[in-house]
Amino acid sequence: MADQQQSEQQPQPQQQQQQQSSQQQRQLASQQPVCPTLAQRVASAVSGAVQRVEATWLSSAEKTRCWSFNVKEGQDGEEQVRMNAVRLNTGHLLPAIGLGVYRSAAGGECYTACLSALRLGYRHIDTAQVYGNEQDVGRAVVDSGLRRDEVFITSKLWTSNWGYDKARASIRQSLSELDTSYLDLFLLHAPGDPGARAETWRALEDAQKEGLIRSIGVSNFGIAHLQKLAETAVVKPAVNQIELHPWLQWRDEVAFCQAEGIVMEAYSPLAKAQKLAEPTVAGIAQRLGVTPAQVLIRWSLQKGFVPLPKSNHAERQRTNLDVFRFELSDDDMAALDGLESGLVTGWNPIRDDPV
Ligand SMILES: NC(=O)c1ccc[n+]([C@@H]2O[C@H](COP(=O)([O-])OP(=O)(O)OC[C@H]3O[C@@H](n4cnc5c(N)ncnc54)[C@H](OP(=O)(O)O)[C@@H]3O)[C@@H](O)[C@H]2O)c1
Repeated sequence: MADQQQSEQQPQPQQQQQQQSSQQQRQLASQQPVCPTLAQRVASAVSGAVQRVEATWLSSAEKTRCWSFNVKEGQDGEEQVRMNAVRLNTGHLLPAIGLGVYRSAAGGECYTACLSALRLGYRHIDTAQVYGNEQDVGRAVVDSGLRRDEVFITSKLWTSNWGYDKARASIRQSLSELDTSYLDLFLLHAPGDPGARAETWRALEDAQKEGLIRSIGVSNFGIAHLQKLAETAVVKPAVNQIELHPWLQWRDEVAFCQAEGIVMEAYSPLAKAQKLAEPTVAGIAQRLGVTPAQVLIRWSLQKGFVPLPKSNHAERQRTNLDVFRFELSDDDMAALDGLESGLVTGWNPIRDDPV
């Protein structure tokens, strides 16, 4: 972990982040070792066995985008899970897969889901004020026994908290709910009211300056929203989190953000499980001997996105994370790219929120 901290203090030029082409990601994925004992970890995640996890760097060549977790389980020795991480324009590292917790119910379900995921090797949780479950996330992180700096926590400012003072107060409220002194990433949940957007962003910038938030970003922003924000922003967003899956690819928005060094996080990367039986996906999954969900998560990674699959079930969480032992060919990627149909499974502020 010391290595990680040291490396985080030496941000790479933003250019380097942009060089993380899908080609590099494929190469990296092909170097990833199979972790044959990963399946055994579900049982202990469910039963609640205590695991100590230490994060260490693999090698200097991979420092910029990869870290490993040595998971020690009882007397059985050590096993290793490697996970890509993306470097944000702040220099901080974002684990390349996150656990989404939208509609993980507060007061138990979300807590159990987060604890199970952390025990399985997830190190990145995506919550939001409006999900009402920040407290469960915070409690699970504490109870996991992991150090705070081993877990990347994202939350989002809900649009009813727009305005400088309200935003500042609600950032403190989120920190309190999450039982933490800082957030790794905090996003404007949507473009929201254009009249209050600039001062709301300034509240995030000030909280970042004070060390309450490490990286700040946006969600559901289109190109015009980003251009408008740039007129007043001092800090460029590190992330734009939008709905992304083969049936909704937002190609212009992705190209714009990637050219700007803004990392794309893919929400609803499984299209809310509505398309898992679709023949193209199911066919690729069958041929590769993986699940349809794994195909969709792998597609997301190979596009250079950071997918945030949500599951309350340990077995699904395990397979959703176990996507570094195979890769999709260019033909598979092209077939999945061909599925674009404009399918929006949730809301659509990119289209609906005023600039
Ligand atoms: N910024 C935004 O506006 C925004 C909007 C939406 C979502 N998000 C974020 O993105 C995250 C993910 O999006 P999402 O929750 O809408 O949808 P999703 O991750 O695309 O799909 C979740 C659904 O898929 C099921 N599922 C998960 N893994 C599966 C597997 N391996 N096989 C079969 N079914 C599986 C889950 O059921 P079980 O839980 O029962 O396993 C759940 O019903 C959210 O949780 C949230 O953190 C952000």
